[in-house]
Amino acid sequence: MNVHGKHYRTIWIHEDDPHVVQAIDQQVLPHEFKILDLTTVDEVAHAIKAMLVRGAGLIGATAGYGMYLAALNAPRRSREAFLESVRAEGEKLKATRPTAINLEWAVHRQLRGMEAAADVESMIEAAFQTANLIADEDAEFCRRIGEHGVRLLEDISRRKNGETVNVLTHCNAGWLAFVDYGTATAPIYAAFDRGIKIHVWVDETRPRNQGASLTAWELGQHGVPHTVIADNVGGHLMQHGLVDIVITGTDRTTYTGDVANKIGTYLKALAAKDNQVPFYVALPSSSFDWQTRDGVKEIPIEERGGEEVRYIRGLHNGQVVEVLVTPQDSPAANYGFDVTPARLITGLITERGICPATEEGIRGLYPEQGG
Ligand code: MRU
Repeated sequence: MNVHGKHYRTIWIHEDDPHVVQAIDQQVLPHEFKILDLTTVDEVAHAIKAMLVRGAGLIGATAGYGMYLAALNAPRRSREAFLESVRAEGEKLKATRPTAINLEWAVHRQLRGMEAAADVESMIEAAFQTANLIADEDAEFCRRIGEHGVRLLEDISRRKNGETVNVLTHCNAGWLAFVDYGTATAPIYAAFDRGIKIHVWVDETRPRNQGASLTAWELGQHGVPHTVIADNVGGHLMQHGLVDIVITGTDRTTYTGDVANKIGTYLKALAAKDNQVPFYVALPSSSFDWQTRDGVKEIPIEERGGEEVRYIRGLHNGQVVEVLVTPQDSPAANYGFDVTPARLITGLITERGICPATEEGIRGLYPEQGG
C-alpha cells in the first residue's frame, strides 16, 4: 500500500541490516509517520502489547519476525540450549495478547520449522525463511481476499446501476492490521481500483479509535471516499438504506463460524440482521481456530486498562496530547473484543473463496482440516 506515494508493508527486515526488523509505529498515526527498529524479543513483545503494531495478521507476522530475533539471540552452544531459549521466547510473545489467534499460530509455525532443522545455523536460517514466508503469505492471502470479495461489491454496484456502493466497516481490518492490502479493506481497494463508485462508513471504534485514526488514514492514502462516524451511528444508517454491506475483519473465527472481532462488532451484526443488510467477515486461514466450537463461551477476550477508556489521544495545537473524558475518579472497564455468533453472519471471505459461516461451509474450503 502507498504512503505519500511510496509502497510500504507494515513490517519488514531492514534493507542494510538483517539483524533489525522494522515496522510502522501505529501508536502515533495518523499525526506522525514513524518507523520502529526492533532488535530483541522484549522489544517485539512490548510493541505487540502496547499496540505499536496491532491487528490480527500483523500481530502474527510480528511474532514470526520476533521468533527470528529470538533465534538470532539464542545461545549457540548446543541444539538443546538453542531450542530451550527460543521456546521460552515464544511463550513470552504468546503472553502479550490473548485474542488474535494468528499470534500463537505464527509462534508454533516458527518452532516447528526450527525443530525440523539439523543444527543451530540451519535453525536460524529456517527462522529467517519462515518469518518472511509468513509475511509474504499474509500479503498474498489478503490480495486474494480482495479478488473474491470484490465480486460482492460489483454485484451491488450492478444492482444500483452504478450508483455509489456504501460499505460500513468497524475498527481497522485494513492494510495496517496485516502486512499489505488488509482483509475487510482488500475488496474495497480492489473495487475502487476497478472504477466502482464506493464510499466507506468508518466506525471510530472507541476506545482506541482504530477506525478514526487508522482506517480513515489508510483509505485517505489510497483516495477512497469515506466518512468517519461515531460508533453508535451504524444502526441509524442501516434503517435509512445508507449501508449496502458491512464488511469487518476478525481476530479469531471458530471452525463453526463464530467471529471474535473488535468490541462493538456484535451490535453492528444485530443491526444488520434487523435491517437485512448483508454482513460479511473477511479473514485469512491463519485467523481460523480449528479447536474451538463455541466462540462466545470459549474465545479468550482481552481486557485492557481502563485508562484507554478514560482518556482520548489527539492533536491539539500541533501537539499529540491525551485528555481525560470521564470524572477523575470514575473507574472504566475495557473489553477489547466481542463475539458475533455465526447465525448473524452472511458469509466469510477467505483467500480460497466465499463460504457460509458454518462448519460445513468452512470445512468445504479447508478440507485438509478434517472434521
Ligand atoms: O486491538 P487491535 O487493534 O489489534 O484489534 C484488531 C482489529 O483491528 C480488529 O479487531 C480487526 O477488525 C480484526 S484484525 C484484522
